Amino acid sequence: MNVKSIAIYLCIIGITASPCCFGQENNVPSGLKDAYNDYFKVGVALNTHNFSEEEQKLILDNFNSVTCENAMKPGEINPREGVWQWEGADRIANWCRQHKISMRGHCLVWHNQFAEWMMYDQKGELVPKEVFYQRLRSYIHTVMNRYKDIVYCWDVVNEAITDQQRPAWGNQPAGTPYRESKLYELCGDEFIAKAFEYAREADPEALLFYNDYNATDKGKSQRIYDMVKKMKDSGVPIDGIGMQGHYNIYGPSMDDVSAAIEKYASLVPHIHITELDIRANEEMGGQLQFSRQNEEIKPYIQILHAYQYTQLFKTLRRYKDVIDVVTFWNLSDRDSWLGASNYPLLFDRELKPKNAYHLVKNFEPYRDDSLPTEDFQPSALNQPEQEYPMVNSEGYARFRIDAPQAKSVIVSLSPEGSGGTVLRKGKDGYWWGTTDGPLEPGFHYYHLILDGGIFNDPGALNYFDSHRWESGIEIPAH
Ligand code: G3I
Repeated sequence: MNVKSIAIYLCIIGITASPCCFGQENNVPSGLKDAYNDYFKVGVALNTHNFSEEEQKLILDNFNSVTCENAMKPGEINPREGVWQWEGADRIANWCRQHKISMRGHCLVWHNQFAEWMMYDQKGELVPKEVFYQRLRSYIHTVMNRYKDIVYCWDVVNEAITDQQRPAWGNQPAGTPYRESKLYELCGDEFIAKAFEYAREADPEALLFYNDYNATDKGKSQRIYDMVKKMKDSGVPIDGIGMQGHYNIYGPSMDDVSAAIEKYASLVPHIHITELDIRANEEMGGQLQFSRQNEEIKPYIQILHAYQYTQLFKTLRRYKDVIDVVTFWNLSDRDSWLGASNYPLLFDRELKPKNAYHLVKNFEPYRDDSLPTEDFQPSALNQPEQEYPMVNSEGYARFRIDAPQAKSVIVSLSPEGSGGTVLRKGKDGYWWGTTDGPLEPGFHYYHLILDGGIFNDPGALNYFDSHRWESGIEIPAH
């Protein structure tokens, strides 16, 4: 990408950074929690080191729910029999009590960071499951009673469902839908039922959640649904499903997010997005922390990042009746488990709000329900015989691009200054997208950004705009 095109991006992004682009200056909501007051709580995961004065101000301005990133996990609180480490969880819980911010409890049972000692005897052998259940019940009662005044819900069981169910093989039925863990080895899926039973005993007021990642994946969402339904049908008290929300700039699609929410909402009354972050690539887990330590985030990645966040929140606002809270997994890129170089949150590593923050906060509610009138016609400035780009009577523009090898396609035009309109690859292999609102009437220069490279739209005529040939589109006056 040449210097000029970066200048194009920076001025696009620069134009969009100031909140004055979104609604009138005087009605810009002060923080995320205020902007979403009519939709759902906005939460944040805290640890004992993202807690400076500056960070506390950001938290108080923007969030009205808190989760301990690690401090309330069994392995942190009760690492060995009789050893209790309350200080981390108490510090965050007491701060929340002081500021009257309620908390999500995370978590009571997880194969990772678990209080493994509960499953073993002195000789290191697995104990009978009845012994494990006694220990687990005592643990759950102890922890839930300590925080029941401030914790309104718990991730009772975390990540018990497998990512890829083993296919049926020969006369063997399809493999178990459960993650192969020591918990499953010792108890089968009974530990799930027992954990919820003990949690309901300990705090009848708390909402009890099953929490997992990749919860929008078609196969895994069915396995989660089937497990929760089986448990509920046998009387297990599950109030809600937590969709963790560890997403990336290329996916999941909003269709998959919507389909999963609707599937779960048919089963439970409460859905929480529990661990939201949107990473700058598709790598999984901890490898991100090491593989991209200081790589600068390219401007086109920032546009993809902002677009995925704005489209996700537009989708989540539609389900405000079943979504109680959306929690970001950490406050800023500085302390994200993904490493700052993966640019996952709305505050950067210097704690500054990104363009995505302003777009997520200063949304226009009327836009959420507005759909373009389907009277699209080819733009007057298309190459001969070219159907796309198209424009409609209200000034929306629709694009279709043939770029089978591309990982991302952005059109540099967008109504609210998000830096561009991100296209999504359709089942037909073309990249499709429509601007999120009407463009100003008249002529517009534009170009395509394919994986960071600048290209003209083959469907449109080209015009020289003082320093490079750009594509042109004519938006009809109303
Ligand atoms: O506390 C020890 C510290 O004493 C030691 O010096 C240090 C040395 O590495 O490790 C510290 O423990 C770390 C712990 O976080 C607390 O900081 C572990 O190494 C580290 O692996 C652990 O990572 C956490 C991870 O869960 C564990 O799997 C991440 O911070 C946390 O963001 C992440 O959160 C999970 C959710 O709970 C469940 N959903 C997935 C999500 C991401 O994995």
